[in-house]
Amino acid sequence: MSVLDEITAEIRRRTDFSPKTGIVLGTGLGALADEIDAVCRIPYRELEGFPVSTAEGHKGEYIFGYINDVPVVLMNGRVHYYEGYLMEQVVLPVRILGKLGVKTVILTNAAGGLNRSYHAGTIMCIKDHNTAFIPSPLIGKNDDSLGTRFPDMSRVYDRHLIELLHETAAEQGTELEDGIYLQITGPAFETPCESAMFAALGADAVGMSTACEAQALRHMGINVLGISCITDMAIDNEDTVTTHEEVQRIANESGQKLLDLVKGTVVKIENE
Ligand code: HPA
Repeated sequence: MSVLDEITAEIRRRTDFSPKTGIVLGTGLGALADEIDAVCRIPYRELEGFPVSTAEGHKGEYIFGYINDVPVVLMNGRVHYYEGYLMEQVVLPVRILGKLGVKTVILTNAAGGLNRSYHAGTIMCIKDHNTAFIPSPLIGKNDDSLGTRFPDMSRVYDRHLIELLHETAAEQGTELEDGIYLQITGPAFETPCESAMFAALGADAVGMSTACEAQALRHMGINVLGISCITDMAIDNEDTVTTHEEVQRIANESGQKLLDLVKGTVVKIENE
């Protein structure tokens, strides 16, 4: 049995809860974990073979339960490539969501703004991504049970889910931008000239997660929605110092708007 199947079997020994939607909570966005009406919590460290997050602000557990009466599985905490794991390990937690039968995954993150019209607190719907600066999580022998060797990536972020997110934003009176997310490995924040290059490549936000997960999920044919909370401006940053503490603080503050969007959108997805 593969590690993926062993971990999935271990989770299934603990719960038969089978939600349609999975949600990954990014840096500073863990508040949703306190609001969920939990049925079962499984700390990552209890799952043999599971990569455990070492990043501050990232707890590690799957939480099965209800948000607005909708069954969901939350990933409270993710692992990052900069922690030293292989890309294959970094995407293992989201692949497990797929193995558990989830049809849609909502990925959230904190990100640096590259679009000059953004500011700390801007909420961005990810309409496409750039993974050219990270290794692909699909490198290595292809697991045909997950997906095809050469998966199409023309539409990583599902158009219909993006529409539902915009509908929710309009109902909640939340401003929502559409933008392109570029993933870097981290852990260093980008230099001013790197930021300028990423912006010149058309990216609106930069971060250290999410795009690799989206790639692995699309490989499995799972529908993906991505939402960024802009916690700092990464463009024109010659005179600003970015810290992880600041990123966490802004995500905590502005993240509630993002989480309200997630809560509203899961209801729409469930009622489809
Ligand atoms: N760069 C990369 N990742 C980030 C940033 C940033 O400026 N802010 C939050 N995550």
